[in-house]
Amino acid sequence: MGSISHNQVTVSICFKIILYVLVFIISHVDGQNASQQLSITFIADAITKGAVCLDGTPGAYYFSKGFGDGINSWMIFLPGGAWCATNEGCLNKSSTDLGSNKNPPPLPLGTFQSTNKTINPDFYNWNIVQIRYCDGASFMADVEAVNPETNLHLRGRRIFTSVIEELKSTQGMSNAENALLIGNSAGGLATILNCDRFHSFLPGACRVKCISDSGFFIRAEHLRGAQDNAIDNFRKVVLFHISKYVAPNSPNEVGWNNCTTEFSKLSSCTENQHHIIMGNPNS
Ligand SMILES: *[C@@H]1O[C@H](CO)[C@@H](O)[C@H](O)[C@H]1NC(C)=O
Ligand SMILES: *[C@@H]1O[C@H](CO)[C@@H](O)[C@H](O)[C@H]1NC(C)=O
Ligand SMILES: *[C@@H]1O[C@H](CO)[C@@H](O)[C@H](O)[C@H]1NC(C)=O
Repeated sequence: MGSISHNQVTVSICFKIILYVLVFIISHVDGQNASQQLSITFIADAITKGAVCLDGTPGAYYFSKGFGDGINSWMIFLPGGAWCATNEGCLNKSSTDLGSNKNPPPLPLGTFQSTNKTINPDFYNWNIVQIRYCDGASFMADVEAVNPETNLHLRGRRIFTSVIEELKSTQGMSNAENALLIGNSAGGLATILNCDRFHSFLPGACRVKCISDSGFFIRAEHLRGAQDNAIDNFRKVVLFHISKYVAPNSPNEVGWNNCTTEFSKLSSCTENQHHIIMGNPNS
């Protein structure tokens, strides 16, 4: 009897140890996954709002909720991914992750998005958002008309606006005390273009900063002496995403040509045209 009882105790202890080890391994693996990847949130009613990618699929973002004393601090990240400036280029892009949210992959987190305090001591408990870049034009365009031949949508600006509005109304961003808008490359340009608007969305008490990483495309000769083509690139991007679709059948098209046929002529747009191109900063 005594021996059976002893065996039972041994088996019971062994079982418990195995169980603890399993639970530890499973939770450790789960915990690692949770801290290394973020899943996607699609903008609510994105199609109705017109907040869509090049191919018309809904705009989306990755979100990790803040905690502790980071609950009212926000980091919004705008990723890079170049631009497109022709029907062919934008159609090519619209069949990739940079132009469509058909199959958005989970997001592997970078250092400044980690929830591990050792790795990311300044921001580990902040609200972390990464907006999916799928409009091909640095979240710049907001064109109502859809080209019926290509079905291309040029609406990145609406994606940015809708994400910020949704975070404010559903995730407490309207209580933000600190907010950082960060982007790199095409997202770095988007950060420059949207910094003032971002600020205008947030309450007066909020401390707002913008960081553009590799987003300032200067007009200069390359180190190896090659001619700079940034101006030419941006002329094409701006013309494709804005002017071609601004009031396409308007009797005033000639007036638009005056200000949008060349990038350098943007300065000769009328006040109203500037208003349409730049959008209303408070909207
Ligand atoms: C679009 O994709 C095709 C096929 O891969 C390629 O040949 C073409 O150069 C691409 N066009 C642009 C503008 O990227
Ligand atoms: C946080 O990162 C440190 C350094 O890489 C690591 O030793 C530690 O296990 C991590 N903590 C968690 C909870 O993952
Ligand atoms: C366009 O520019 C030309 C030449 O500068 C000018 O004569 C014309 O009045 C402009 N048209 C409009 C609609 O602004």
